[in-house]
Amino acid sequence: MHAMTDAPSSTTARERDEQVASGSAYRAVIERLSKASVDKHWEPYRDIPWDDPEFLVDPEDPRWELPEVDRLGGHPWYRGRSPEERARIGLWRVATAMKIGLQFENLLKRGLLNYAYRLPNGSPEFRYVYHETIEEGHHGMMFQEFVNRTGMPIRGMPGPLSMIAQVAPWIPLISTELFFIFVLGGEDPIDHVQRRVLKDGRAHHPLEETIMRIHIAEEARHISFARHYLRNRVPRMPAHRRLLLGLVSPVVLGVMARIMLAPPGAMIRRFRIPASVVAEVYLRDPGARRNIRDSVARTRELCAEIGLINAVTRRVWRIMGIWEAPRAAGRPAPR
Ligand SMILES: [Fe+2]
Ligand SMILES: [Fe+2]
Repeated sequence: MHAMTDAPSSTTARERDEQVASGSAYRAVIERLSKASVDKHWEPYRDIPWDDPEFLVDPEDPRWELPEVDRLGGHPWYRGRSPEERARIGLWRVATAMKIGLQFENLLKRGLLNYAYRLPNGSPEFRYVYHETIEEGHHGMMFQEFVNRTGMPIRGMPGPLSMIAQVAPWIPLISTELFFIFVLGGEDPIDHVQRRVLKDGRAHHPLEETIMRIHIAEEARHISFARHYLRNRVPRMPAHRRLLLGLVSPVVLGVMARIMLAPPGAMIRRFRIPASVVAEVYLRDPGARRNIRDSVARTRELCAEIGLINAVTRRVWRIMGIWEAPRAAGRPAPR
């Protein structure tokens, strides 16, 4: 089969040792994540008391109101609405985020199954990816049930975007590494937003709070899997493929973060939010841009760590508006 092989030099022997060591550490992580999925998971129709009077959704409940620290919530236009309308706008936004989240996770599940379809026997990823697909199935039901209970005509991604998004499940056939960048591109901004909401010190509706807590707990495993997968695979890619991945990743991440964090068009139309207000709070506001940059911070650091960022690919990060230099001790963060 194969001809001559060179006598192993001490360097290659050592590299192989390191590979085996990191390979078995990687395998141990995947097995730990699989076990955790069995030990700690939730089912929406068993673990959420949807019909408990405390959990019913009233669109005029003041707990849906956007806080003053929110860019729209603090705007004089919003503050000038009636309390009922302020609550409705807040609920509309939460529900839209869940609808877009469940659409993204639908694409994600199909992609995971396309990835798992080709996995060889004995691969530890197979079991974990099935656990993840099942959990995402539960998330989809949980988010859709919430949307249904608002009674609002909530729409997800805009039509043309939704059409383009249909390519996502096929990405694993081209590059599994790019697929897991796409996964982080959706999961990290959602996680970022949900963690911020839970930490904002306000009284939340118990249904919203329960859904977010379940989601954050299970997503932590999904994010961990994607990160370990990329850490394990990317450094071993051929240089030309790694450069290509480095160029495409910031485009995917920049687009995904905007899809996840953009103001819902249907909400703007329904509540007749003036264009000047929308521009002020979502487009011109430096805080909005910071929010987008921050929501991909963890993935950006991972990309730097695994060798996807160099002088060339950094330009793409800048163009996409999601670049921020890692903060070194003792000097201010450069732009
Ligand atoms: Fe999820
Ligand atoms: Fe997930």
